[in-house]
Amino acid sequence: MTSTATPRTDPALLDSLRQDLADAPFGVDEVRARLGDLAANALGREQTLPARRAVAGARDALGVLVGCFGLGLPTAADDLARALPRTGVTGAVTLGIVEPHGAHVVATCDLRPYGDDEGRSWWVASDPTDHTRTGPLPVDHVLGIGGASSTLASWTPRTRVARALDVGTGCGVQALHLSGHADAVVATDLSRRALGYAAFNAALNQADWDLREGSFLEPVAGEAFDLVVSNPPFVITPRSAGVPLYEYRDGGAAGDAVVEALTKGVGAHLAPGGVAQLLGNWETAAGQDWRERLGEWVAASGLDAWVVQRDVQDPAEYAELWSRDGGHLPGTSEYEALVGAWLDDFAARGVEQIGFGIITLHRPTTQRAPFVDLVELTGPVASPMGPTIVAGLAARDRLAGMDDDQVLDTAWTCAADVTTETHAAPGASDPNVIVLRQGGGLARSIRLDTLDAALVSVSDGELTARQSLIAISALLDLPTGESLGAGAALVRRLAADGLLLPG
Ligand SMILES: C[S@@+](CC[C@H](N)C(=O)[O-])C[C@H]1O[C@@H](n2cnc3c(N)ncnc32)[C@H](O)[C@@H]1O
Repeated sequence: MTSTATPRTDPALLDSLRQDLADAPFGVDEVRARLGDLAANALGREQTLPARRAVAGARDALGVLVGCFGLGLPTAADDLARALPRTGVTGAVTLGIVEPHGAHVVATCDLRPYGDDEGRSWWVASDPTDHTRTGPLPVDHVLGIGGASSTLASWTPRTRVARALDVGTGCGVQALHLSGHADAVVATDLSRRALGYAAFNAALNQADWDLREGSFLEPVAGEAFDLVVSNPPFVITPRSAGVPLYEYRDGGAAGDAVVEALTKGVGAHLAPGGVAQLLGNWETAAGQDWRERLGEWVAASGLDAWVVQRDVQDPAEYAELWSRDGGHLPGTSEYEALVGAWLDDFAARGVEQIGFGIITLHRPTTQRAPFVDLVELTGPVASPMGPTIVAGLAARDRLAGMDDDQVLDTAWTCAADVTTETHAAPGASDPNVIVLRQGGGLARSIRLDTLDAALVSVSDGELTARQSLIAISALLDLPTGESLGAGAALVRRLAADGLLLPG
């Protein structure tokens, strides 16, 4: 099954549509207020009934637009004409965003307001979402804003850059964010339909992107960027008969080879100081640590690497998730066949776990050995995470250029959002567990021994780490050399994630 044409980019009609949507006003906050929290929250869980009830019989512009473009409801042509007075029904049909059905129109796409944490707002068109349609998705479905899109957008550093690249742009959601802080945005996709939506969204939002058709990095051969982002088609799909390959999630390679190839290859397109950020799934075989596999990939990139594993699933959980995602219902024979194919595929490679996470790569500006940091953090983190990534890369860059003597001869200050928690066995006078907790950023919690806890407690920017450690080891009757070694390692760990700050 394949989909219909994508909307057209008629400049005059898009001017009218933009003004109509702004006048409605068809904005994120306005839509939430119109629906009410209950319906808006349900819609976030892909449950449409409360929202359908909230806009049933609506005649107001906002209610009509939500019903038509957010919920895919047949809409009276007269109501749409009033909601889009400049564009009109004829204009909307000419743009290809609705189709006439007698006295009604039906949206051919999902169109919704979208915004960032800085107060920027856009409208994003994509194929109608899963929850406004029935049956399996067409294989050339163009995804709207999903959970993975939002995760990547949250984690991306928003530092001003000259040239940014979005690999696998889809409807252009990452490119919209990049437009806010990049002088030039190049976006690639293999799917012509995705590029059709991206062109429509760029024009509707008055953004200027260089859209290129082709596979992954091929369309940018020989070019370098300051920032590369990609929410690639990272889903691991069996290459067996009867398993559909969706363009939006399958990159056409077995196992996790798409993410591996991007991780290893993106460095060729990073300018000095440049950052690449990719989302991905990776396989871990029985008896392996996920860090071994990721460690090999990032070593091959030759870049600084900071990988955060955010989630882990076993093969059955993974198979269930992606069998359902295509619109197949549990209990049907098609669904069971798909889950079986996934289980066979993972078993053939001995895969025990599938990780999901964010790979951040950085090309240093100086000649030094790359840093590699592979961490598992599955709990809640700050939102947005971009500022944490910017600070974390700067801290790791600085630490990678310091030897242990320089780390020890620096005075460190405990960050303002760090607290300690102590636990003692009932009746005990001294704590036997001390945990350092970070309030923001990665929300790290790190168990400390007595030496660590003492070092952190005196880190107020007055004494260097070496001075503190010499005094603490004398007090605790510990060998100074060992204390200095352990202290330097602890400072590196805490400073990388912003729990200790220089000065
Ligand atoms: C998960 S979607 C991401 C869309 C969007 N960037 C986002 O963040 O929501 C992956 C995108 O990669 C595209 N894609 C699939 N195979 C590709 C390939 N070989 N080269 C480039 N893009 C590809 C798909 O068409 C789809 O638009």
